[in-house]
Amino acid sequence: MTTVALKDVTKVFQDGTVAVDTINLDVNDGEFMVLLGPSGCGKSTVLRMVAGLEDPTSGAVMLDGEVANDLPPRDRKIAMVFQDFALYPHMTVGDNIGFPLRLAGVDQAPRGERIQDVASALGIADVLGRKPSQLSGGQRQRVAMGRAIVRRPGLFLMDEPLSNLDSGLRAELRAEISGLTRELGVTTIYVTHDQAEALTMADRVAIMRKGVLQDVGTPTQVYGRPATLYVAAFLGSPRMNLLEASVYVHLDRYVALSLGEQSLYLPWDDIRSRAVAHYHGERIVVGLRAEGLTPIAPGTAGHVLQGRIRYLEHHGHESLAFLDIGATAIVVDEMGTPVETGEPGQRGLRRFGQVMQRLTGRAGDAPISAPPSGVHRTSVLTDPGRHHRRPAELAVRLAPYPAVSAGHPLAVQVRMDALHFFDERGDRIDVGWR
Ligand SMILES: Nc1ncnc2c1ncn2[C@@H]1O[C@H](COP(=O)(O)OP(=O)(O)O)[C@@H](O)[C@H]1O
Ligand SMILES: [Mg+2]
Repeated sequence: MTTVALKDVTKVFQDGTVAVDTINLDVNDGEFMVLLGPSGCGKSTVLRMVAGLEDPTSGAVMLDGEVANDLPPRDRKIAMVFQDFALYPHMTVGDNIGFPLRLAGVDQAPRGERIQDVASALGIADVLGRKPSQLSGGQRQRVAMGRAIVRRPGLFLMDEPLSNLDSGLRAELRAEISGLTRELGVTTIYVTHDQAEALTMADRVAIMRKGVLQDVGTPTQVYGRPATLYVAAFLGSPRMNLLEASVYVHLDRYVALSLGEQSLYLPWDDIRSRAVAHYHGERIVVGLRAEGLTPIAPGTAGHVLQGRIRYLEHHGHESLAFLDIGATAIVVDEMGTPVETGEPGQRGLRRFGQVMQRLTGRAGDAPISAPPSGVHRTSVLTDPGRHHRRPAELAVRLAPYPAVSAGHPLAVQVRMDALHFFDERGDRIDVGWR
């Protein structure tokens, strides 16, 4: 089997585009590593350098502990599957899968056996005699997988192999692919822009932004303790609520996080209050995921935020309420997030953003009801190059189809231990982090 290590790998294309910027990453033997990031962040370039299809501008690509920069692709024992895989239309499924073996000079009898094995593992043994045109999209993708895996590669590289399939099939194949590669024990690097795909499939996830690696860890680690604001915003659905907060320290009592019209109070004996207290008089970003917010009866004591429902999204198994709480949200760039100015003509931007969210897998498959007109009248301040501000819409989980509607008041209890803190540069503020 195979290990992969990238040492300070940089790729600058001829036109000056820095596609990959000083990336260091280790992939262990038999590991399922997912490279995650929005379109254009350099994922495919990383994969192509591992495959030997692109030369690094600087740095080393190591396979099994040896520098492989000059190793030709055919000597790397690598199989690749792309989004736009092509099958040979005139060949049967069996011949398509067996093609790499035929090229390698494997005799007919053992070839047939290997084809059978792979086809059974992929659940396509009953269609071996068909032509690709007689298959469904999912079956064709399995054939492409089978063809890649039949030679028992040491390393499996997959570049958005499920992007062209519909969502039901995607979910089904996700489980199959990760199950199969684990069964085979083959080291896999899997590229996707879909955070749900990454979190469900990966042993570890590596999150990229503009060619730079932001965070690497198990799904639990990167979701539960994101290293940067960007990672926090990228993972999870609904998105993490990211609110601008002004920090005021009341020594020995609490650290107040002023969110605009309301505040949260981090008790002084909370181990994180010391780290946050360094920002006294400054602004930070507070992250709250929907699972850390529980709707409560009005007037309940505790760490509470109050708001009015701006609009609802019904997802079948749950509904999401988006609350106006008089706070300011931080919107991280490069995720297809709309930047709104409230000009009527620009409200289309929101629609565009929703489409982009779908494309980047952010909003799941749920229908999104259009927010009522007249919202987002506030102008957007732009931080140079980093992120934008806009009126916060606090995402809160409710039971399916709740008996509330837009305009309703709603109070939520905040789980203080589930808060995340980020500085103005977008780095995590944490005990032991700074
Ligand atoms: N051959 C090339 N020449 C110039 N720029 C390229 C080339 N290939 C990719 N790029 C650029 O490099 C960046 C990263 O591309 P890519 O690795 O394909 O991103 P991803 O796979 O994450 O969508 C993009 O800005 C892309 O336009
Ligand atoms: Mg790509």
